[in-house]
Amino acid sequence: MSKPPLPSLLPIPPFTRAADGTITLPGSKSLTNRALLLAALCAQPVELRGALFSEDTEIMSAALRSLGVHVEADAARCSFRVAGAGGILPATTATIQVGNAGTAARFLTALCAAAGRGVYRFDGVEAMRRRPMGGLLEALTRLGAEFRFLGQPGCFPFELHARGLRGGTVEIDARESSQMLSALLMVAPLAAAPLCIRLVGDVRWPFVAMTLRQLAQFGQPTAELAARPAAEFALSWGRPFTAPSLYPIEPDATAASYFLALPIAAGGSVRVAGLPEAGESLQGDLAFAGALERVGLQLSREAGALVSTRVAGAPLRGIDADFNLYSDTFLTLAALAPLLEGPTTLRGLTHTRKQETDRVAGMAAELRRLGQDVVETEDTLTITPRPLLASQIETYHDHRFAMSFGVLGCHDLRANGQPWITVGNPACCAKTFPDFFEVLAQLRAHSHPMSTAPDFITVAIDGGAASGKSSTSRALSERFHLLHVDTGAHYRFVTHQLLERGVDAADESAVAAALAALPLGTRLAGRSSLIEIDGRIPGEEIRGQRVNEQVSRFAAVPAVRQFLLAYQRSQAQVARVAGFRGLIMEGRDIGSVIFPEADFRFYLQADPVERARRRAAEGQTDAIHERDRLDASRKTAPLTLPNGATAIDSTHLSLLQVVDQLGALIAPRLGATTIPHLP
Ligand code: C5P
Repeated sequence: MSKPPLPSLLPIPPFTRAADGTITLPGSKSLTNRALLLAALCAQPVELRGALFSEDTEIMSAALRSLGVHVEADAARCSFRVAGAGGILPATTATIQVGNAGTAARFLTALCAAAGRGVYRFDGVEAMRRRPMGGLLEALTRLGAEFRFLGQPGCFPFELHARGLRGGTVEIDARESSQMLSALLMVAPLAAAPLCIRLVGDVRWPFVAMTLRQLAQFGQPTAELAARPAAEFALSWGRPFTAPSLYPIEPDATAASYFLALPIAAGGSVRVAGLPEAGESLQGDLAFAGALERVGLQLSREAGALVSTRVAGAPLRGIDADFNLYSDTFLTLAALAPLLEGPTTLRGLTHTRKQETDRVAGMAAELRRLGQDVVETEDTLTITPRPLLASQIETYHDHRFAMSFGVLGCHDLRANGQPWITVGNPACCAKTFPDFFEVLAQLRAHSHPMSTAPDFITVAIDGGAASGKSSTSRALSERFHLLHVDTGAHYRFVTHQLLERGVDAADESAVAAALAALPLGTRLAGRSSLIEIDGRIPGEEIRGQRVNEQVSRFAAVPAVRQFLLAYQRSQAQVARVAGFRGLIMEGRDIGSVIFPEADFRFYLQADPVERARRRAAEGQTDAIHERDRLDASRKTAPLTLPNGATAIDSTHLSLLQVVDQLGALIAPRLGATTIPHLP
């Protein structure tokens, strides 16, 4: 799955009006990954509807495919069609990469041990290699699986030699992660004889109950077991897994926590559509709503939605609460604790120190960075509010840090609409909620009362070399708070990188191969968006003679244009999530190819002598006529005056005159909305 187009550092634009809107959440990660496994065990095809499409479910579905299970994904319809093999995995060898997905790591290991007959090689990312697996591996070993560890004993990477599970009684220690018990429960009906699972120590029950209730939906008589916490599970044996042909997945209750808590930061009211009542839901994290009520938000039901409201004037107080049973949501409340009256104490957190990162330590560090008084014990976190400081937040490759502090950043700390929190690596939310910042931005735009003004405009500026595009675009971006993107710099930086690698523009296959190894990213600098390649941004080198001479040759190669096309289009989303009123993009094919539907398309021209004079005044050696000739004559996306674009000849105009002319056309579209200032 492609990474969402987010800048490497995302300043969070605060809400300048109270939140007001309805959101639809993606499907639950926990339910989707359990349902994928259970569907793979059915003999009949099952369609999972409302499923989550994210990194974690991508890992799970890709692994099932490599095990020979037919899984068809339709992201647009949020649907997975799974044609299972009825309890035996078709593939006898496979290499499975579980990334940092805890559910995939535990569920797939148990699945291969019980339903596989062969040798399966497993690995995860570095952080996953340190996450707890021991309890599950020991239980599976006692039931007949054999693990050969390729690194540390009890950890990824390992080779699993599988020949099915024998029955009998087995003990499992799932104190460090309830997913280990869930994994064993899901495959227990496949054992060669009845299996009784005995718990050593406690387990966090809500996720076990979820597993048992889902097992019941897939034809296993476990509904009674789900009713109350138990220490021993005698599962029925040998029954086939069955399911309705259409299996619906609930929206993700943990993801709901961010939006239900948003009124703490932004005031107002947020409706989360499609969440079942707590009693009807399979998800224990809905209990977070109760914690919000204790804080002082009002929670209610309205036409199938759960509504969270901050009643004007009502105080919001810190609470002392045990989050052990719904601990994925503790980060949401911890991040917002600075906005509550009095201290907040969160308990029951020990196991979260071994999740995506040490979440307790990470939270304490980030809250301290924001000026808060934090006391941390092994199991608890107490946050006493202090005046908030502006800060950049480290997210530790943990989606929940990005989303929790994303919500805190919605608070208009200085009452000026200016970002004060910058979230590092916001794209890590792709693990469970790839569109999180987009949904937040939509809610922000929707909450703005200027509904007659469009939410967002796109402005395309094309023209030949030295026609004044850059200075004009910069000035307009300043005037209207638009994100400025110079696509010439994209072609220049890519050219520079390819030249460094000794690639010749004439060798198209070498160009294509080199491009495949260039990871693109975005960095925001004030109102400009800068392209990142491998984490680096362009410098002076892209304006040098060598690049000037070669850039148009590389820009004419179809693979280069294709490489930048989706990236350039994705900049509209970057502008949206970063709170800009729109996007202004300059280049040669913006109004014709990249954004042919742009709200404004301008084409700048100037007399060639005047253009050469401008370049010389910048101290550059630039063969602008030769570049224009190449740019206008190439086959793919040539420089042309796009149909219906407004052409402006700037030969005898000052920069201010050009900007005023274009600005006069743009201004009416933005209504009377005030334009934020950047410091
Ligand atoms: O705008 P600038 O002069 O920096 O662009 C450098 C070169 O990049 C252009 O001469 C052209 O070959 C290429 N380019 C392009 N399409 C764009 C922007 C730039 O082909 N949209």
